[in-house]
Amino acid sequence: MAMKTLADVFRDVLKEKGVESIGTLSKRFRKSRDKLQDMAIEIVHGKGAVFKIPEKTAVAWDLEGKMVEGSRYAYAPLCMAEKFEPVLTPEELRERLPSWPYFIIDLYHWEKHTDKEKGKLCLQAIQCYGLLKRYFTGSELAVTWASGEFKRMFHGPLDRITVYDGPTSEFLKEKGIEEVVLLDPWADEVLSEGDFNVKAFVIGGIVDMLGNKRKATPEIAGELEKEGIKVRRRKIVLKGDVIGVPDRINRILGIILKMMVEGKDMDEAVYEMQEPLHARWRLRKELPKHAIRYRIDGKTYRVVEKELFDEYSQWLKIRWEDFIKVLRELNLTALERRRIHHLNKLSNPRIIGGKLYRVILLKRAALLCYNC
Ligand SMILES: C[S@@+](CC[C@H](N)C(=O)[O-])C[C@H]1O[C@@H](n2cnc3c(N)ncnc32)[C@H](O)[C@@H]1O
Repeated sequence: MAMKTLADVFRDVLKEKGVESIGTLSKRFRKSRDKLQDMAIEIVHGKGAVFKIPEKTAVAWDLEGKMVEGSRYAYAPLCMAEKFEPVLTPEELRERLPSWPYFIIDLYHWEKHTDKEKGKLCLQAIQCYGLLKRYFTGSELAVTWASGEFKRMFHGPLDRITVYDGPTSEFLKEKGIEEVVLLDPWADEVLSEGDFNVKAFVIGGIVDMLGNKRKATPEIAGELEKEGIKVRRRKIVLKGDVIGVPDRINRILGIILKMMVEGKDMDEAVYEMQEPLHARWRLRKELPKHAIRYRIDGKTYRVVEKELFDEYSQWLKIRWEDFIKVLRELNLTALERRRIHHLNKLSNPRIIGGKLYRVILLKRAALLCYNC
């Protein structure tokens, strides 16, 4: 079952109070794409409340976020409490919140990073906050082993996330959490719905610009287990393989949220968080599986069907230019399926050096020019 968002909770409470639409007396939400969610965040953080007002607002939104005519209920900064009758206060909304899990960025390996990598880590942490406040409140984001240097370099709202300067295990113990899911590309088991009941997910605070942090994630598991925390190591895969899964912290979090809150399956969630760069990683592994070797006038050509582009673009975020790029890198040639059939008719199979070739003796190399 998909998990409730903050906007869902806010909607439920408003409905119970008989509020069908809500306007605002603040300019804050002019650009907001999800007004209910963003109003609820401000209320949870004690900045505003919902009031009953004497005159209708100019515009308002119904509980599905659709613009409607003005409303007698409005979000307004908390200082208006003296003037208008409060309908929903921060305390009341906070009481109604379910206990969403923590999403921990574990900075155990912080010191192994260069300054540039540390900067990227901070940026990814800000992006994680941005993702979480689309669904929950944002303070579900916890950063552990957070040094003074992290706090100086992090240009996001430190007061709206959870920052803990000690070890992750201590943080967990303080919160009474005994078991976590650690997202780990080296794990044997794949993350599944059955894992969504934990109270904390741990993502390695690791950025791999330099290649010196291989297998750093399992070390985090070791560290937690040493301190008595139960760790479920889980990987995220795309059609059974970690290759093609974006490995940036915020994208990993995005995948988990799409599965957990939006109820998407893993392949779909990965596709949505993928960039062509990650898709090309996977395509590089896939295309050679389809290569047919031709030997034409003594020259070897490795050929794949051009139609593979359509097949792979169903589940990899590739554009035609990515397909071409990977073909070139792998020294492969793409030909339409019917041309491959034609070549097959002209050729004879033969084993050369232990490998199967289709040999064409005639000077027919011109046939191959169609791939460019
Ligand atoms: C850039 S990765 C670092 C990987 C690290 N170099 C290693 O070899 O363990 C950053 C974090 O993203 C998460 N992650 C990346 N790819 C993942 C995958 N396919 N499945 C699960 N978690 C993943 C892990 O929590 C990991 O610590």
